[in-house]
Amino acid sequence: MPSTSLSIPNHVAIIMDGNGRWAQQRGLPRIEGHRRGVETVRTVIKACRELGIPYITLYAFSVENWKRPKDEVGALMHLLEFFLKKELANLIKDKVRILTIGRIQDMPAGVRKQLDKAVEATAAFSDLTLVLALNYGARTEMIDAARAYAAAIAAGETKLDDTSWEKFSRYLYTADIPDPDLVIRTSGEMRISNFLLLQAAYAEFVFTPVLWPDFAKADLAAAVATYAKRERRFGKTSEQLKPAATS
Ligand code: FPP
Repeated sequence: MPSTSLSIPNHVAIIMDGNGRWAQQRGLPRIEGHRRGVETVRTVIKACRELGIPYITLYAFSVENWKRPKDEVGALMHLLEFFLKKELANLIKDKVRILTIGRIQDMPAGVRKQLDKAVEATAAFSDLTLVLALNYGARTEMIDAARAYAAAIAAGETKLDDTSWEKFSRYLYTADIPDPDLVIRTSGEMRISNFLLLQAAYAEFVFTPVLWPDFAKADLAAAVATYAKRERRFGKTSEQLKPAATS
């Protein structure tokens, strides 16, 4: 269900950052920050429903995150599996559709099993779509799309001469997901870190110093309010966007 208000973004994508620092500031192990980060995921899903945001994408694990210490990667996988197992009934009750983007085939079998279950069980819902970016990287996505596109050309399903963004973008992981309108990154870092590079071409960016475990509904609402004040020109001039003057 698309958002009816122009000041409410149709799709918010979030780079959840700062779990490690949140824990370190409290003398806790990093994984405690991730555990608190899962609580924020719950809070943000609820806040999206309340604010009427129809699509949310969460950058939960990047292709580069495998380079983290083995223990931390294992704990993150465990948290994901546990979240999906524990939360599925609530997601169904709240009519939240789950989608994934990324090389899901390379995620651990236990996580894949819960993801398959969640995606299947929520496929008919449309009130809120939660997209989990897992083993995701924009450059890997581009390579996967280019390979799939080349294979389609080789199979005679499409023609190289007919290439357009509309046609090529059907081969991205996000083929059926609208582009993000607002990208938020928490924890004060101002980087895009290989996240939705093509899809965010015209997105507005909001960077907040708040660490992900502390991110609350009010912070999401503040980011949306900032977004609402921005003028999105999509390459046009400010004058072209103003309603034509009546004489
Ligand atoms: C970044 O913080 C966070 C991550 C790499 C993992 C995010 C994962 C979760 C919040 C939990 C699982 C997600 C779901 C959807 C249930 P960081 O560790 O890089 O923080 P730092 O920069 O302070 O070290």
